[in-house]
Order: sequence, then structure tokens, then C-alpha cells
Amino acid sequence: MRIIIYPGSFNPITFGHMNIVERALGLFDKVVVAFGTATDKNPDVFLDERMELCRQALNQYGTRIEVEKFSGLLVDFVRAKNTKFILRGLRTLMDYEYEFQMLEMNRHLDPELEYVLLPTASKWSFVSSTRVREIAALGGDVSEFVHPVVAQFLAKHYRSPHTSN
Ligand code: PNS
Repeated sequence: MRIIIYPGSFNPITFGHMNIVERALGLFDKVVVAFGTATDKNPDVFLDERMELCRQALNQYGTRIEVEKFSGLLVDFVRAKNTKFILRGLRTLMDYEYEFQMLEMNRHLDPELEYVLLPTASKWSFVSSTRVREIAALGGDVSEFVHPVVAQFLAKHYRSPHTSN
């Protein structure tokens, strides 16, 4: 069984991420969406909610998807899943720089790794989780960029008076 790990913060999952998962399912038997919990982007906020939103959004693509979290090194998680494949989406040249730095670092940690870098579908190439959060926080409509369950969650989350991130 060919398994690929799709790591990220998914804060929140966007149509761009979903498109990457859908296309990866055409290349691999199983896609594991892996929420990193130790990055500098503070992804631990609402981690369980974000994972649940991800499950619901990806439900339409069937049962060959798993949504999990990992807290250590990505390379260790990949090995524990008995695979060597890591999936990332690329939107821009800036993404490319960032990805290559991570990719090289991870390949030094485990030279067996194979990266699959999929260019984001052009219709979603401008969509980022950061912008989606910003628009939602300022009361804008994000339904064009994220699954309805995510849009509803964000609308509710940012309406709540005691939330700021
Ligand atoms: O979507 P993001 O925020 O760019 O995802 C970043 C993520 C989670 C893929 C990255 O921070 C990661 O792999 N973290 C796990 C810790 C680790 O292995 N660090 C060394 C990577 S060079």
C-alpha cells in the first residue's frame, strides 16, 4: 500500500489544501493529513477543532484519508507510518524557497525520504490560511475559499467576544 504524508498546520484547511489531497489520492492509496503541533505558527490553538473540520471537509473524498497529529519530528512520524513519501503543495516562488529549505533539512535527517510537490491548482494559488483567518477575523466572507463547515466555524469563532486568534 502506497501511503503519503501531507503535513501542515491547516489553520484552517482551504480549498487549495483539499485540491492537493484529492489529486494525491490519484497517485497514492492513502493520504495521511498530519497536523504538526510544534511549529512557530502556534497551531496548537483549536487543534482538535481544526482536525475535525479537516475530517468533515475531506469526507467527500472517501475513506482513503486519515487525519492525525504529530508532535515530534516529521521524519519520525513518516517512518512510523511505514512510508517515505511527503506531500506538499506549492503556490508561489516564495513557497518554493520555504519548501526547499524544509525539504533539504528533512532529507539530511532522513536521506530515504521522497517529496512529492504538487503545484496548487491555479484557481486557488492565491489562497492562504493566514489570509482566510484575517478576512474571517475582520468579518469578511470566506465561503469562496473554504468548505462550508470551516466558514461556519470561523464565523462563529470570530463572533465570540473572548477569542482573538
Ligand atoms: O503548513 P505549515 O505551517 O507550513 O506546516 C509546517 C510543518 C508542520 C510541515 C513543519 O513545521 C513541520 O514539519 N514540523 C514538524 C517538526 C519538524 O520536523 N521540524 C523540522 C522540519 S525542517
